Amino acid sequence: MRKIIIDTDPGIDDAAALALAVFSKELDVQLITTVAGNVGLDKTTYNALRMVSLWDARIPVAAGAARPLSGPVYDAAEAHGESGMDGFTFDAVTARTVPMHAVEAMRRVLMRSEEKITLVPIGPLTNIALLFSTYPEVKEKIDEIVLMGGAFLRGNITPMAEFNIFADPEAADIVFKSGLPLVMCGLELAQMATITGAMVGALREKNPTARMVCDLFEHYRGGDLENGMRMYDSTAICYLLAPELYTTKDCFIGIETASPLTRGMTVCDLEGFWGREPNGKVCTAVDPEGFRRLFLEGLENASGAPENPTAAMWLYDC
Ligand code: RIB
Ligand code: CA
Repeated sequence: MRKIIIDTDPGIDDAAALALAVFSKELDVQLITTVAGNVGLDKTTYNALRMVSLWDARIPVAAGAARPLSGPVYDAAEAHGESGMDGFTFDAVTARTVPMHAVEAMRRVLMRSEEKITLVPIGPLTNIALLFSTYPEVKEKIDEIVLMGGAFLRGNITPMAEFNIFADPEAADIVFKSGLPLVMCGLELAQMATITGAMVGALREKNPTARMVCDLFEHYRGGDLENGMRMYDSTAICYLLAPELYTTKDCFIGIETASPLTRGMTVCDLEGFWGREPNGKVCTAVDPEGFRRLFLEGLENASGAPENPTAAMWLYDC
């Protein structure tokens, strides 16, 4: 099993992505860290705890940054609802956060692991930037960053910027300059491979997670039930499971932080105009049917007790 840490801002599409990862037999989720993004940190953290409780998943949750490195705090409550996960009624929340900041939790997990770990950010990159800036030594324990963020065409929060990058461009700049292997799963993938309400509705009675995604879909504004929902964050998880479904291009990716018109843009030099050393792999396409199959099978299999055998539950004893 591949060891991963997921940094997330749940978030309706985050919820589906977390389910795919937590129940996957190929991924061993070490830690879930939360960041302000779709909604405030208190709500993204609470939503992560609600899902870990629903699944009785023995995976630690650590709360991270409540605001970007600089600039105003943005959210996407209009797409996800005020709670960040409007539409599903959860049972009691039994899980709690570990007694340390997400950055400290990530450092301890990374430095203690004998194998390298993959970072999977699916929200703004504030926690990841703080980790690299505070503890650069952790980089030797990371094999790859596979993130949902950016776009090589158009944005979804401004004409040219995608939300996760726009929410903290300075953090994204640090992460894209980290020197680590980086895979960018941008907006275009989920726009190609949408998931309809009917596809998920057919699974509604399979298990509580499928029911949760169904009910959340009713409130999610990232698409529409008939033409299909854009499951942005799941495209990063599915890349981990089946990279062969993706078309990619190694190229230089720059983050715009200054321009008032394009702040938060991921400038992807796909044609190599600048001749600069590539710092990432841009996913330019995904096989729609292959993604849909992985997504729906992942939901169908999201029942019983998820197995993440080396999850860092020892963090609760620190
Ligand atoms: O732009 C899409 C991204 O922004 C997704 O991660 C979604 O959850 C929001 O965080
Ligand atoms: Ca997200």
